[in-house]
Amino acid sequence: MKRGRFIAFEGGEGAGKSTQTRLLAEALRERGQPCVVTREPGGTPGAEAIRALLLGTEGEGWHPRAEALLFAAARSDHVERLIVPALERGEWVICDRFVDSSRAYQGGGGGLSDAEVLDLHRIGSGGILPDLTLLVEVSPEVVARRLAVRDGDNADRIGGRDSAYHAAVGAAFRRFADAEPARFARIDGDGDAASVHRAVLAALGLV
Ligand code: TMP
Repeated sequence: MKRGRFIAFEGGEGAGKSTQTRLLAEALRERGQPCVVTREPGGTPGAEAIRALLLGTEGEGWHPRAEALLFAAARSDHVERLIVPALERGEWVICDRFVDSSRAYQGGGGGLSDAEVLDLHRIGSGGILPDLTLLVEVSPEVVARRLAVRDGDNADRIGGRDSAYHAAVGAAFRRFADAEPARFARIDGDGDAASVHRAVLAALGLV
């Protein structure tokens, strides 16, 4: 059995990743390629429970190290119970965010070193990386418009952090893509969903 491909979508808030994740899964199924669509934090009952702990706005929240550990714990359950079994069955896994989000948010935004985040990932999940990470990049004006529609005043605990935090996250993603051009494809996310989807298919060699 040929192992499936592991594809992650990454990007800042309001980049349109969730829509693109769904469109890619539909395109793969039309081509007869079975795939599993999932997200982080989440994807298994345990990891979804940790998602609620991380993103809920009640209480005092987490300091950056506890936050990084919780993301790593959610990811460990997700990798062990859902991602690896699906890949071993030959299915593709399309994941809305993966470890590069921890590197960008808890590292770039939160101040942990990249080595610390990757250590947690090695301990929790054996260091598994996507075969390809699609970094969807959107200009600040488009993000502001989309988030006003999506969240209004109801941003989650991390999405609601200040613009300096999110600028550091975006800069970190760009650094990772520059450092690992074979694992990252940069996708211009400013256009409509259909044109971004075409760019995604092209990056995967599917058109
Ligand atoms: P979502 O809104 O794309 O579902 O992601 C949930 C939030 O969690 C988003 O603000 C990004 C953040 N996040 C991290 O800070 N670290 C991570 O490792 C992941 C997967 C998400």
